[in-house]
Amino acid sequence: MIDVKELVSKMTLEEKASMCSGGDFWHTKSVERLGIPNVMLSDGPHGLRKQDLNADHLGINVSIKAVCFPSACATACSFDKELIETMGKALGNECLAEDVSTILGPGCNIKRSPLCGRNFEYFSEDPYLASNMAKHHILGVQSTGIATSLKHFLANNQEHRRMSTSANIDERTLREIYLCAFETAIKEAQPKTVMCSYNRINGTFASENKRYLTDILRDEWGFKGLVVSDWGAVNNRIDALKAGLDLEMPSSGGVNDRLIIKAVKDGNLSEEVLNTSVERILTLMYQYLENRNKDAKFDMDSDHALAEKIAQECIVLLKNDDNILPLQKGKKIAYIGKFAKAPRYQGGGSSHINSYKVSNALDSSKDFAEITYAQGYDTNQDATNSELLAEAIEVAKDSDVAVIFAGLPDTFESEGFDRSHMDMPNCQNQLIEKVAEVQPNTVVVLHNGSVITMPWLDKVKGVVETYLTGQGSGSAVSKILFGEVNPSGKLAETFPIKLQDNPSYLTGFGEGDEVNYSEGIFVGYRYYDKKDMDVLFPFGYGLSYTTFEYSNLQVSSEKIKDIDTLTVTVDITNTGSMAGKEIVQLYVQDVESSVIRPIKELKGFEKVSLEPNETKTVTFTLNKRSFAYYNVDIKDWHVESGEFRILIGKSSRDIVLTKSIYVESSVELPKHYHMNTTYGDLVCDPNAKDFLKKLNNLYFSEMEGDMGEGTQEMMLQMLKYNPLRAFISFTNGKISSSFIEENLKELM
Ligand code: GLC
Repeated sequence: MIDVKELVSKMTLEEKASMCSGGDFWHTKSVERLGIPNVMLSDGPHGLRKQDLNADHLGINVSIKAVCFPSACATACSFDKELIETMGKALGNECLAEDVSTILGPGCNIKRSPLCGRNFEYFSEDPYLASNMAKHHILGVQSTGIATSLKHFLANNQEHRRMSTSANIDERTLREIYLCAFETAIKEAQPKTVMCSYNRINGTFASENKRYLTDILRDEWGFKGLVVSDWGAVNNRIDALKAGLDLEMPSSGGVNDRLIIKAVKDGNLSEEVLNTSVERILTLMYQYLENRNKDAKFDMDSDHALAEKIAQECIVLLKNDDNILPLQKGKKIAYIGKFAKAPRYQGGGSSHINSYKVSNALDSSKDFAEITYAQGYDTNQDATNSELLAEAIEVAKDSDVAVIFAGLPDTFESEGFDRSHMDMPNCQNQLIEKVAEVQPNTVVVLHNGSVITMPWLDKVKGVVETYLTGQGSGSAVSKILFGEVNPSGKLAETFPIKLQDNPSYLTGFGEGDEVNYSEGIFVGYRYYDKKDMDVLFPFGYGLSYTTFEYSNLQVSSEKIKDIDTLTVTVDITNTGSMAGKEIVQLYVQDVESSVIRPIKELKGFEKVSLEPNETKTVTFTLNKRSFAYYNVDIKDWHVESGEFRILIGKSSRDIVLTKSIYVESSVELPKHYHMNTTYGDLVCDPNAKDFLKKLNNLYFSEMEGDMGEGTQEMMLQMLKYNPLRAFISFTNGKISSSFIEENLKELM
């Protein structure tokens, strides 16, 4: 590859400054004099949104015809690493064919609130799942030589005031939740670029936040690529360069280029910093230009078929009473709802793809059965259309099974704004209620990018959650409804019963430009489990047309040190009559901890395909991070010695096998003893035994009356919250401060 350092050494200050921002909305700058061309970046994440002329970052202007794959809200439900890697490869190939060097995605921001307008574009409420799905998306795309842009770094968890708000988050929560969602993807997939978010984190814009862009991203995690701004996210260009933001997009029209030149000339910006960023930009460009496979073809039909195949693996069967599903082919079936003919299959905003074709359930199902159709509702309306409702009720009455295609319309959720409530349109909820009144065999098929309430849940027999599952949505869900495909998705987020149950509800999206993540690490199931709260559907939940049995949970050792790895195996058997796939989940529980921890945390998942009566063994490998929490005192991950439980679950609320192990910490936490250390704290320290014995003798020697063992024990219980300094005054100085300080010094 070209020697970028040498190339930079030939560039003038003006040329280097200009390289640090876009040439236009989607391209980097070129330098004619040195024969440096430009390269194109385009959205993502689940399709190619390439714009030729009028460009925008909200999906308003036209983009080329392309293939819309399932959004992250759906692919996360597949829990299938290989599948999402395959999707990535296809996306990379499309970029090669369309001469796009970088596809902007995946988005791995945590779903803190059900109301975030962009939840459809993100994977999960759980950082382990989110980061592992992002990792395999990146690996897939980058296996073709195309760059990705892991986004939006950091804590972009709402659309409300996204370009000005400050996400105020404590260090442990950042580490265990919001940074963690990026960490595995960065360390194990090395995205060629990371996109910084619009918002501030604890007061400082992400675009100029050195702690995250350099100290953690690069110095701690070893990120080697380039940081690109979200479009329009740069606040102060000089501060941004110093913090580690290499490329400002889109173009700043030369304004910031001139500021860079001035800053270098005034000595406010070291030319070394500028050179480093230019080197990273040139590296991204030449890695693409020199390795690009020019023979790549964008075969839309083949990618459409893949999009449909992926969709089949993402769809979640939530309810199937009386085995109402799969539908029987000879029956009279009603499809009700506009989404049966025109499915909602993607979200609004920068990820909006100009799909060259979209399959719908109605047409796709005609191969399986005679279907009658009724529109049921006006898509972007909240109010009921009484004629459409009446017609739907008649059609439902006159059928054996009514399948209602419902969900959220584009106007309810999108990039750029958040939802105001968690409900579906009234007209759709009413339609479901009314149809279920006349037709007990009712199934609901949902198309929503984020969680919804289901007031009619007890009145219907079946619920199929497709989320936003791409242009293959209609044919994929038809195959599942008629049993050609066995559903195998599981929920990557909790469906709470009501919005008020959600841990972020009290703080919401903040006041003014400050949003405090006061729920801390208790996001999603971490919260609902800790509160032992009922939920509509738990994280990790999903049904199948077959049944699975879990057995023979084994661990490689019942006692390990925190620096060891632990191998866990479990057998899964398909005990039904249909081939199927099962997502096996492994959670870890710290049985006793001196810090507040969630009940359980996801630390492994595997999807296994099984023929009827087939058994396979699933293997997990755990390491220190599987057991650790982030200790802000030592600024590192720490495992506290003690009992841990390995929980194997069909969902986070359906733990079927458990094994206890003992983990011994290899790290002694530093002690900070002082005169205000409490007596009780010292009792917990086995090394303090002698000191306490001396202290007790001195203390009780003053006492009169019967100081038998029992009385002493009670007295000590009463003393445990006493700071050591109090013993001086309680013994009128008999216990001296020098006595205490000398002993504490020895202890530390
Ligand atoms: C948008 C989005 C980002 C997208 C970029 C370019 O505002 O936040 O995800 O990649 O701008 O469209």
